[in-house]
Amino acid sequence: MTSSGTNRGGPPNPAPVGAAPWTAAWELLLPAAATPPRARGRTLQTALREAVRSGRLAPGTRLPSSRELAGDLGVSRGLVTEAYEQLTAEGYLRSDRGAGTWVGGAVRAVGPLARDRAPRPAGVRADFVAGTPDLALFPRAAWAAAHRGVLAELPHHALGYPDPRGLPRLRTALAELLVRRRGVVADAERVIVVSGVAQAMALLGFVLHARGTPGVGVENPGSPEHGSLFASAGIGTVPLPLDDEGLALAPLQASGVHAVVTTPAHQFPTGIAYSARRRTELLGWARSVDGLVIEDDYDGEFRYDRAPVGALQGLDPEQVAYTGSVSKSLAPGLRLGWLLVPASLVEEVVERKRTMDLGNPVLDQALLARFVERGDYDRHLRRCRRAYRERRDVLVAALEEHFPGARVSGIAAGLHVVAALPDRYGPEDRFLGRAAAAGVVVRSSAHYGETAVDGVRLVLGYAHLPPARIRDGVRLMADAVRDHGARREPSAP
Ligand SMILES: Cc1ncc(COP(=O)(O)O)c(C=O)c1O
Repeated sequence: MTSSGTNRGGPPNPAPVGAAPWTAAWELLLPAAATPPRARGRTLQTALREAVRSGRLAPGTRLPSSRELAGDLGVSRGLVTEAYEQLTAEGYLRSDRGAGTWVGGAVRAVGPLARDRAPRPAGVRADFVAGTPDLALFPRAAWAAAHRGVLAELPHHALGYPDPRGLPRLRTALAELLVRRRGVVADAERVIVVSGVAQAMALLGFVLHARGTPGVGVENPGSPEHGSLFASAGIGTVPLPLDDEGLALAPLQASGVHAVVTTPAHQFPTGIAYSARRRTELLGWARSVDGLVIEDDYDGEFRYDRAPVGALQGLDPEQVAYTGSVSKSLAPGLRLGWLLVPASLVEEVVERKRTMDLGNPVLDQALLARFVERGDYDRHLRRCRRAYRERRDVLVAALEEHFPGARVSGIAAGLHVVAALPDRYGPEDRFLGRAAAAGVVVRSSAHYGETAVDGVRLVLGYAHLPPARIRDGVRLMADAVRDHGARREPSAP
């Protein structure tokens, strides 16, 4: 690196203190010379643009003269002049004839998204955060075969803009699947393909908001996502308490809401399955206020000790909007799900879906359709259910061994359980802190809105963890608590 590109002239807008890119290695910043001669001009321009956009070249930075930079980079001077002129015309650079070229002030530097910058927790030895299936079980071979099959059979015209309701073939396959597996009332006309439960909630939120619905009831404790999704649609949520049978009826009636989100097959996070009585009462409430029950069937497929409880929607499809996705059954990254709404809402929801994204990607939809039609989805669910049931049993046994007296609930279904530990393990903050220090990531029910809890109540996801990791994680937690003086009583209370 030579000393070219110094700032002797003094930029019109001084570069911020500490941002002294004129000392930067220009040849690293602009690797134009390394590219074939024909591509050099474009490479140089792209690299300069990118350097300005990313903020590596701050506004006000004076660039080297075209002669100096050409010398540094080992390219022709004309190429640099052309790049300066082009970027000046685009607003990235400013030049004062004879005085030099500076980075303009019009470009807002765009750094990586906050999420990308978020530090990854170091030293995590077991992560019990609920909500993810085992992604290592993703059926790659069957998926790849379905992909090849779809590409071979899909007619050209199918690659045009899709029906915003979803590919007819997928809607037919999903209707058949959901009737058979979840007991819903469905035909292809009622099914709307969405990019997950999250989008279903947002769509319903927009439609309800447009209809003047003042607020939507949500389970408390419940998924924090429900609140934020409705908020994004401009609609507030009213947290409603649960009892042993599901959403408590009296507070629902008193709340004045006309729409409520529920997870009746396996309440998130408590894990209770709504009783038959509460299901009937809930539908009675919906009919009496001409309201809407939104059924989030996020993990209803996974029930271990007997057949899954059928969906609420099957009892009254005109009072229930039903939604689910492949996020727990296949992988959340696929972003594919379904929404079945009462006939009176179909048109508005489809129009919202159309204006939101013009429909889901066609290839993905065709792929899932084929996967379902050929029985691959059922096969995959059977395989996962076997694995998850074993992991659940391992977790329950490990909790019994290491936390005697723990009461474990919500074990009949889903991908997580709730463990209430005896008082001696509390207070909860201290417990969580010690678990974290030992490399165990775990959330308490308070994270999901549960209040007035005595002792320690943990929500433990297990489906994504191999059995050995589950055992180790529970043992690590127990050791962390004991090593720091938790009174490990000889027997359960
Ligand atoms: C209660 C609940 N519903 C739904 C989902 C899944 O949403 P999506 O289908 O958009 O991935 C989750 C994800 O963690 C959840 O916890």
